[in-house]
Amino acid sequence: MIVLGIDTSCDDTGVGIAQGNKVLANSVASQTAIHASWGGVVPEKASREHLSVIDAVVDEALATAKLELSQIDAVAATYGPGLVGALLVGLNYAKALAWSLGKPFIGVHHLEGHIASSLGAAQLEPPFLCLIASGGHTSLFAVSRWGKYEELGKTRDDAAGEAFDKVARLLGLGFPGGPELASLAETGDDQGVSLPMPLRGQGGYEFSFSGLKTAVSVLLQKQPELNKADLAASFERVVVDSLIDVVVRASAATGYTDVVVAGGVAANQRLRRGFIDAKLNAFFPPLSLATDNGAMIALAAHYKLGQNSNWLRDAQPYLPLDASLRSSASS
Ligand code: KG4
Ligand code: ZN
Repeated sequence: MIVLGIDTSCDDTGVGIAQGNKVLANSVASQTAIHASWGGVVPEKASREHLSVIDAVVDEALATAKLELSQIDAVAATYGPGLVGALLVGLNYAKALAWSLGKPFIGVHHLEGHIASSLGAAQLEPPFLCLIASGGHTSLFAVSRWGKYEELGKTRDDAAGEAFDKVARLLGLGFPGGPELASLAETGDDQGVSLPMPLRGQGGYEFSFSGLKTAVSVLLQKQPELNKADLAASFERVVVDSLIDVVVRASAATGYTDVVVAGGVAANQRLRRGFIDAKLNAFFPPLSLATDNGAMIALAAHYKLGQNSNWLRDAQPYLPLDASLRSSASS
């Protein structure tokens, strides 16, 4: 079965094509340059841009896969969570395409897509843990089998990538701030600045990053002469340590030793080293699959091919993964 998957949940227009676990194409039109001057994603601009490029991105994916539209067996799209106007573009495009081809339409939860991204690059079978750390999400899932995901914990406030972006902004760096902050951090002393470890000693599997960001902001106001590279390195150390600490405890509690790390923060080299140091068997899908993309939606859709198309599935900006599974079981 060949599935075309679309993701327009935030600021990337992603169209991918997968045949089983094989990714045949994965085209992404990035809007980073459009939003950079605003310091963050502007929802209305994101929707308009998705609308103007989606046709071309679908054509590019088909050309890469050397396929005609008539060879597509099903069309899938993210229906939530995400920016509602952005979601609507990909979702309605996918429904219209599927309808016109007389093929099934499959709605996919964005985080289920991230979890399935590991399929495109490795023969990793459940059980495993999946840490999703991006600009919009920071969640840890226990995947006992495909289609069965338990959210062990998520962030109480900012996502990890969002914290990188906000602290980068405080340091006068560009957007998105993660890569710039990480390269500044390489030149600094990671013990140079004392910062609070989020949720220290509280147990559980939640994350929190907004207090850390506020601590950086207060420090910079009080001591503007502070060495920025040391501050970046110390901030990065605390974020990474806090992510790894939660995953290590979850691994001990579940007995799962394989960990898939998805989302843009997976690009962080310190995080990658941290998993090795913690002796966890971490798997990092290639970045083209780890960040938002359409191929992960096509991969996830393969597990839903038996389900009926749900043409009435609407865009849902707020959508916990467990709740979406309950509703799809009853639909
Ligand atoms: O998954 P992603 O591409 O999409 C969104 O959630 O929008 O993740 C982007 C996030 C941004 O917040 C970016 O700053 C962060 O991933 N990021 C990084 C690094 N590269 C990207 N954070 C830390 N270190 C990096 N090297
Ligand atoms: Zn995402």
